[in-house]
Amino acid sequence: MRKPIMAGNWKMYKTPTEAEDFVKALAPQVKDVQDKVILLCAPATALQKLSEAAVGTNIFIGGENLFWEDEGAFTGEISAPMLKAVGCSYVIIGHSERRQYFGETDETVNKKLKAAIKHNLNAIVCVGETLVQREANETFKVIEKQIKDGLSGLATRDWGLVTIAYEPVWAIGTGKTASPEQAQDVHAHIRKLLPKEIGNDVRILYGGSVKPENVKELMAKPDIDGGLVGGAALKVESFVKLIKY
Ligand code: 13P
Repeated sequence: MRKPIMAGNWKMYKTPTEAEDFVKALAPQVKDVQDKVILLCAPATALQKLSEAAVGTNIFIGGENLFWEDEGAFTGEISAPMLKAVGCSYVIIGHSERRQYFGETDETVNKKLKAAIKHNLNAIVCVGETLVQREANETFKVIEKQIKDGLSGLATRDWGLVTIAYEPVWAIGTGKTASPEQAQDVHAHIRKLLPKEIGNDVRILYGGSVKPENVKELMAKPDIDGGLVGGAALKVESFVKLIKY
């Protein structure tokens, strides 16, 4: 059984104090939730406070990015051991905003993924097509390349740390959600691309304008194992609704 994950990706929002207040308000409302993994991925500056506030709760903490070296002269970067040291058990890798604005490629995604795995950090690897690619009927081709190159060279045991997030770029922050059928089609296709022996165990999250109004029908699809949520995860009230859909 794949336990669903409801993950917030806060992107570049929230100070440490705001993050702490969020967890303090969230934790009592979700303390009885056992059927889902609850995850908050936050800016690096908020992670320490966030994980301190999450101690003793069922809320997991994650980074939004990492660099593949453990340490060194890499100004501005943060490594897997550093994320672990501030209490992270997850990290997002290859979000489309990182690909679009910060030059990430499937090759850098793969290096980052291997660094996360080396340090026993759960990785959420993001894939997804742009509107132009969807309209040119290239969705499957684009996803196949992202999966093949971004997730290459893993040993069977490594897959236990891998979650994939399908986030169609045209649905991120636009209010346009992929229909449950569109998302399911891509999720099922992604699952077929995974090695047979682990394909049924890997969680595939959907991301892109997930909100309380559409979460239920998306999560009802057999290959959708949770959500990676931006805007609707910034407010406690709507994040609670997403967790308890
Ligand atoms: P929105 O939920 O704001 O569309 O963002 C989705 C996303 O990019 C999550 O990683």
